[in-house]
Amino acid sequence: MSNEQKLERLLQMKDQARLGGGLKRIEAQHARGKLTARERIDVLLDPGTFEELDQLMIHRATEFGMDEQHFLGDAVVTGYGKIDGRGVFVFSQDFTVFGGSLSEAMGEKMSKVMDLALKTGAPVIGINDSGGARIQEGVASLGGYGDIFLRNVMASGVVPQLSVIMGPCAGGAVYSPALTDFIFMTNGTSQMFITGPEVIKSVTGEDVTQEELGGAIAHATRSGACHFAIDTEEDTLLEVRRLLSFLPLNNMDNAPIVDAGDDPTRRSEDLLTIVPDDSSKSYDVREVINRVIDSADFMEVHAEYAQNICVGFGRLNGQSIGIVANQPLYLAGVLDIDSSRKAARFVRFCDAFNIPILTFVDVPGFLPGVAQEYGGIIVHGAKLVYAYAEATVPKVTVILRKAFGGAYDAMGSKHLRADMNFSWPQGEIAVVGPEPAVNILYRTRLSESADPVTERAELTAEYAERFANPYVAAARGYVDDVIDPRDTRPKVIHAFEMLRSKSDSTPAKKHSNIPL
Ligand code: HXC
Repeated sequence: MSNEQKLERLLQMKDQARLGGGLKRIEAQHARGKLTARERIDVLLDPGTFEELDQLMIHRATEFGMDEQHFLGDAVVTGYGKIDGRGVFVFSQDFTVFGGSLSEAMGEKMSKVMDLALKTGAPVIGINDSGGARIQEGVASLGGYGDIFLRNVMASGVVPQLSVIMGPCAGGAVYSPALTDFIFMTNGTSQMFITGPEVIKSVTGEDVTQEELGGAIAHATRSGACHFAIDTEEDTLLEVRRLLSFLPLNNMDNAPIVDAGDDPTRRSEDLLTIVPDDSSKSYDVREVINRVIDSADFMEVHAEYAQNICVGFGRLNGQSIGIVANQPLYLAGVLDIDSSRKAARFVRFCDAFNIPILTFVDVPGFLPGVAQEYGGIIVHGAKLVYAYAEATVPKVTVILRKAFGGAYDAMGSKHLRADMNFSWPQGEIAVVGPEPAVNILYRTRLSESADPVTERAELTAEYAERFANPYVAAARGYVDDVIDPRDTRPKVIHAFEMLRSKSDSTPAKKHSNIPL
């Protein structure tokens, strides 16, 4: 064979590999409103930067007629490329080959890119479109998953791991994403479940569709497994790019500085009126966030889950910041099981990747109730306390209004090593609000009062005047300053600038024992 013929053979093999499971299956993929594994990589990466690995690898199964069916590259496309000029590793499962199911060889391909990502300190983005373990391969497939899970855990906290769900993902195909930092799903065409509707029907008798059980909406609103639910595959992949723009490449790196041209000394008059005078009235805390951060560019995480707390990424004078804010628009911004878990995980992500944390507090306390107690609010609420206490990144907290009870401590208080704590003048920092305080402190007196209504009103006003303000805390140094709300942006920017060289540590230990 001449060199020319040898080259021709290679090019033919590569053409064949690029067809995955063949034109018919590619058409079927398109007919379902889905892109192919390679088309997704094209949208995700900077043009022309993708270098594919193991394109010629094939599975090794022989049972069930598998020795007759080989597809070059098997059911995953792997390699490396760039996003905004920065290196990333990618795997993109190919549903046109055995439904993207995981073979031993495919497990090796995915493990290889994860190993390279860990060695080089670059993020891993996994696009999942897979029926789970390849049934024909049996335990070899389970072994492949185990190898991937191990790498997910080893990479956790070292390089960002982002999962994108773009098809019906079952079994092992969802445990690996669950071990990563963020999960994106596309509305209508992606599902995640451990066992599908048919198995559920046979075991529990419940009738449920794939979409109801594991669609993007189900996971974005109910289970919380999905952080971002987006309408089209293109937009989903563009949001992955956007999220990466807020993140460092690894835990030794800092996030890129992105100058949005927003004046760091900009004051905002609107901040005087967004939070209502009446402390029982609600407002959207994102109105505050957007006026403080650069150019109102807020990437909310978990926007539809546990909406009583709002978390996400923004920038201050170009620097990436993780934002945690009670959201009075939902349940008065109370802390409950789901919101505590949501915020705790976000705080830990930021801490692992050197992203400073800005906290906005307006919280009436932890949610009382039998369901909350039986559901483990003690344990889950403790996660938030734990996460803030453990975090050594720069932490700046602004109390906008209420900061009551245990929730005052939990929400980035000074006592949990926050570095700079501000309050607005309408801050109310106390064990409980005025009404419940009066009910408890003056129960006997009010029950014996000739005019309990007037007396209750007077006592409530007196308590509010004396304790529901930021000055008791300021007198103790629990807040570093009470600030004009209009100055919030310049104040927090100055604080984070001052904290840029912060260094803090925790006692040496094997690892901590967060209340899981
Ligand atoms: C081998 C598979 C497969 C699998 C799908 N295919 N899943 N082949 N192993 N796990 C093949 C199908 O045979 C079919 O091949 C092609 O992929 C497309 O599948 P369809 O069923 O036609 O597509 P759809 O109707 O969209 O349904 C997708 C699906 C369904 C929901 C994923 O295929 C399904 O339920 N698959 C089985 C899921 C499962 O039980 N996986 C094992 C989980 S256990 P043809 O040739 O017809 O095109 C697991 C253990 C790991 O993962 C746990 C570790 C902790």
